[in-house]
This record gives sequence, structure tokens and C-alpha cells, in this order.
Amino acid sequence: MSAVVLLGAQWGDEGKGKITDFLAERAEVVCRYQGGNNAGHTVVIKNKTYKLHLIPSGIFYPGKLCIIGNGVVIDPEVLFKELDYIKENNLDASGLRISGSAHVIMPYHKCLDEIQEELGSFKIGTTKRGIGPCYMDKIFRWGIRVSDLLDPAIFKEVLDRNLKEKNLLLQRVYNHPGFDCQEMYESYLEYGKKMKPHVVDASLLINKALDENKDVLFEGAQGTLLDVDHGTYPFVTSSNPTAGGACTGTGVGPTRIKEVIGVAKAYTTRVGEGPFPTELKNADGENIRNAGQEYGTTTGRPRRCGWLDVVILRYAARINGLSQLVITKLDVLDKLETLKICTGYRYKGELLKEFPPNIKHLADCEPVYEIMPGWMSDTSEIKEYKNLPPNAKRYLERIEELVKVKIGIVSLGPGREQTIILSKVFGN
Ligand code: GDP
Ligand code: IMO
Ligand code: MG
Repeated sequence: MSAVVLLGAQWGDEGKGKITDFLAERAEVVCRYQGGNNAGHTVVIKNKTYKLHLIPSGIFYPGKLCIIGNGVVIDPEVLFKELDYIKENNLDASGLRISGSAHVIMPYHKCLDEIQEELGSFKIGTTKRGIGPCYMDKIFRWGIRVSDLLDPAIFKEVLDRNLKEKNLLLQRVYNHPGFDCQEMYESYLEYGKKMKPHVVDASLLINKALDENKDVLFEGAQGTLLDVDHGTYPFVTSSNPTAGGACTGTGVGPTRIKEVIGVAKAYTTRVGEGPFPTELKNADGENIRNAGQEYGTTTGRPRRCGWLDVVILRYAARINGLSQLVITKLDVLDKLETLKICTGYRYKGELLKEFPPNIKHLADCEPVYEIMPGWMSDTSEIKEYKNLPPNAKRYLERIEELVKVKIGIVSLGPGREQTIILSKVFGN
């Protein structure tokens, strides 16, 4: 058996969807463990692009067991739209399972996310999908879980309690009319009925699969630097995309995890507000954005682009205990004459080799770069590592040296076939 966690090593959008889909061919179970439909995971199969926000990226293999774990927050409207989308594409979503302990995003969560982003004294740049307010209720112990939707009496009780408080907040603080309880009760009870056939004890199911020596893949959403504990707080999401989140978000013990794979782009991007030391606010950044089509999958916002930052990757290696790295979008750098890798930061004259423990200092960190020659040739059709241009290999080898984690997969395009395997996961 193999339990492998695949997660973002940067600020999200590293290409986790593509790599999950690639590895899911061999994994028998694929689980999402945190986040919600703030995620946007893109999978390209035979030139057709599919975008998922909530359902694990393993769903493109007919009947594959795809589990939404307890750590995920579920917007039922999005869940059913996504299920319809899968069916419209003649794909089989019969393998979808949902943990009864996952929390439910309610209309007031989305409304509060929007209002607080617009009216707040500072912006996080959230996706306005209700993620933060839903996790707030979970931690505050007022949240509504999937299992609550399955019991009309319990749902009535928790919804009443929540709406009383939320309507007061909306009306008195935010000048919003509030929500009608009966209408919400009926529509969410209906969602509960539709969800019921998919609801399982996810922890039991996953642990049994591991007992039966099955390969299980945990698909992270967001990325290490968006982690609420270890990321660039407060410019983060409200969950734990880092490796430990895979355990708490599914009910699997850490001793069962065999590998933790960090996915990183060959450069860096970020959406939303917050510090980003290697950001390029010039033509180089524009060129990377155009070549990499760096526009958000969920919100369509242009992604901020910059050079590869190995201080961040070393930090991701430490926080997650990475056993392998996947480097994606190397092809996006094909036309660049020179490349820069950030190997350290200068903070008030001092050279920092490690990610600053006080995150407030990151905004004042100047990147220290190592310059490398580009390869100036098309890599998108290359199928074997040995055929990569020498400067591309040097770039990858330098990343390995600096991060001290081996690269197991190199991705050279969005398609499944544009993938070079250097180290086997699940015997791929
Ligand atoms: P995720 O959130 O980590 O799943 O990443 P997204 O799907 O939001 O963004 C990654 C984008 O890059 C998607 O449009 C992918 O199709 C695309 N992509 C993934 N790997 C590669 C690659 O190696 N090269 C290129 N050019 N595009 C890639
Ligand atoms: P995937 O899984 C990139 C960012 C938002 C914002 C911050 C908080 O596709 O990599 P939230 O709506 O979560 O409260 O927003 O987190 N963010 C992402 N950035 N990729 C994502 O997901 C993201 N999900 C959230 O832009 O800065
Ligand atoms: Mg994304």
C-alpha cells in the first residue's frame, strides 16, 4: 500500500490538477482533504480542457473512488453543477464519495465573504466563495455538516441558531436584508437528499483501502504559502493545505503516509494580495503571464508572476517533509535568454537563507538572485529527460541542489503525455 500526499509548494495553481490526474491512473482512491471551490484544478485530456473546483481530479477515470474528506468545505450548489458538468461530458462520476463530517458552505457565508472583502479595512483578495466564513463557523463550533443536512430535525435546529445570529450581523452591522430561514431550509434539505447516496464514513473507507494494500492519493488544494498556519498570514486561505492537513482532513494517521510530493512551477505565481519577493512588475512578468496563460481558473484574475524562489521551496520542503518535487511548466521558460533563481533574501542589510520566521518581514525582503542561461528552444514535445536541452537540465539540477529534494516528475505542457517521470510513484 502507498499513501501519497500531493500538494502545492508555492501559492497555489502549481499544476496539482494535472499531476493528480496523471498519478490517479495508478491510484485506486483519490481524496481531497481541505479547501473548497476556491480551488481551480485544470486537467487537459486529448486536447480537451476540464476545470474542477471541488471534486478530486481523479474523477476522469471512470468509476475511480474519489473522496471529499471531512476537511473540505462543500458548497452544494457547486457540487451538483460540477456533477452535471461531468455527466454532460459523458464521464462517470459514480465513484464520488463525501464525508458526512465535511462542512457546508451556506448562502450567508458567501454573502459575508463578499461584504467583508468589499467593506473591510484591508483586502485579502479572497475568491469570495464563502471559504473563510465557513471555516470560521467550523472552528467556532457553529458549523453545519453534511450529516446535519440528512436529518430534518437536526438541520432545522442548527440552521435556526445560525440564521438568527447571521441575520442580526448582516442587518445591524452590514445593512443587508438577511436571509429567509424556510427557503434556505427547504433548498438545503433537498441538497442533503441528493448528497445522501454519496455520503460515507470517509476515514473508515480510506483506512480500509490502505489495509487492503491499495494506493491512495491525497490531492491538496491551494499551496504551502496559503496555509493558515505556515503561509503568508493573513494573506492566506482558511485551511491547512500542508501535509498535516491530509491527515486531519481525512482521518488517516501520519504513520500511514509514505510520500509527500510538492508541486512547484518552474517560476512563481500568486493570486490575491500579500507579499511576493520575486514578483516581476515589468515586461518579464508580463511575458511569463502570457506564455504560461497565468489567469485564475476560479476567478479569471491575472496571476502575479515572478522568478523561481528556492527559499520558499526549501521552506515547503521543511514544513511538509517533502520526499519529492514535481516541476511543472518548464516549457513556459523556453523563450527566455536568462533566468533568475532566488537563493536568499536581503532583509535590512542582513542576508537570510531561510524563510523569515516573522512573516511581517517578508514584505521588506529583497531577493538575492543567481543568474542562469536559458535554453531558447521548444521543450514541449520532449519525452525523455536525457533529450532536454543542457541548460534546462542544469536549471533542474540546480533546483535539486538548492532545495535538497529530488525531482521526480517534470511537466512540459498541460497534456498527460507532456510529462517526464524520473522517479516512480505507485509504480507509474
Ligand atoms: P492547480 O490549481 O495547481 O491545479 O493549477 P491550475 O489548474 O489552477 O493552473 C495550472 C495551469 O497550468 C492549468 O491551466 C494547466 O493546464 C496548466 N499546466 C499544468 N502543467 C503545465 C505544464 O507543464 N506546462 C504548461 N504550459 N501548462 C501546464
Ligand atoms: P488552487 O487549489 C491560488 C487565494 C486567494 C486569496 C487567498 C484567500 O487552484 O491552487 P479564499 O477564497 O481561499 O479565502 O482566498 O487564497 N487562493 C488561491 N490562490 N490557487 C488557489 O487554489 C487558491 N485558493 C485560494 O486568491 O489570495
Ligand atoms: Mg488552481
